[in-house]
Amino acid sequence: MGKIIIAIDGYSSCGKSTMAKQMAKSLNYIYIDTGAMYRAVTLFALRNGFLSKGELNQSELLDVLHTIDVAFKHNSTTNTSETFLNGKNVEEEIRGLEVSSHVSKIAQVKEVRAKMVDLQREMGKDRGLVMDGRDIGTVVFPNAELKIFMTADYKIRAQRRFDELQAKGDTITYEAVLDNINSRDMDDTSRTENPLIQADDAIVIDNSNITPEEQLQIALNHAHNKIA
Ligand code: DC
Repeated sequence: MGKIIIAIDGYSSCGKSTMAKQMAKSLNYIYIDTGAMYRAVTLFALRNGFLSKGELNQSELLDVLHTIDVAFKHNSTTNTSETFLNGKNVEEEIRGLEVSSHVSKIAQVKEVRAKMVDLQREMGKDRGLVMDGRDIGTVVFPNAELKIFMTADYKIRAQRRFDELQAKGDTITYEAVLDNINSRDMDDTSRTENPLIQADDAIVIDNSNITPEEQLQIALNHAHNKIA
């Protein structure tokens, strides 16, 4: 049975990475979270003082871009893949608020994207891969055998994210979460470099009114058809 490449793109907070991980597990494929890669570069920029007061000093970042190494390693205790920046585990730190609020600035930089796309193609050279992001089916793997574009109503995405944050004890308001989702959608779709666009040959899954289990089943059915 041949191994395929599965590209999953879509809006933020619509469950892409959860579904991508489940698909990879079920198919015994590798899972790559490309958002984590942009987050790791953002952490590097923050640590080196290239991002301050929301402004990026792009030329300083580009001068040292070649020294940035982003990789994934499997943690056998938690059975998850973790993000490493220049050899150090940064999985926790890249999920924090500081990185989250600066990452879209970094994701707009052409040279950063070119470097990440090269790394992502290298990671997919043996196929058998589920990769999620914003430009996977359009730019990184335009010939991927299966492309899925995930979406959900923005109010439903905001409610889900709000519930998740509340469960963690966060005191953020629903309105603040909604604003954040809207601005992330705007950043993702309006940037010049590799914006979020639905590939012509992508299968669209709108999960506003279906359960995660139903969604996974739909996606896996498509994958099994392609693999067969
Ligand atoms: O999926 P995420 O929220 O972890 O993504 C973090 C940021 O990186 C977000 O601003 C979108 C951006 N991104 C991107 O531009 N291209 C990708 N392939 C993946 C993420």
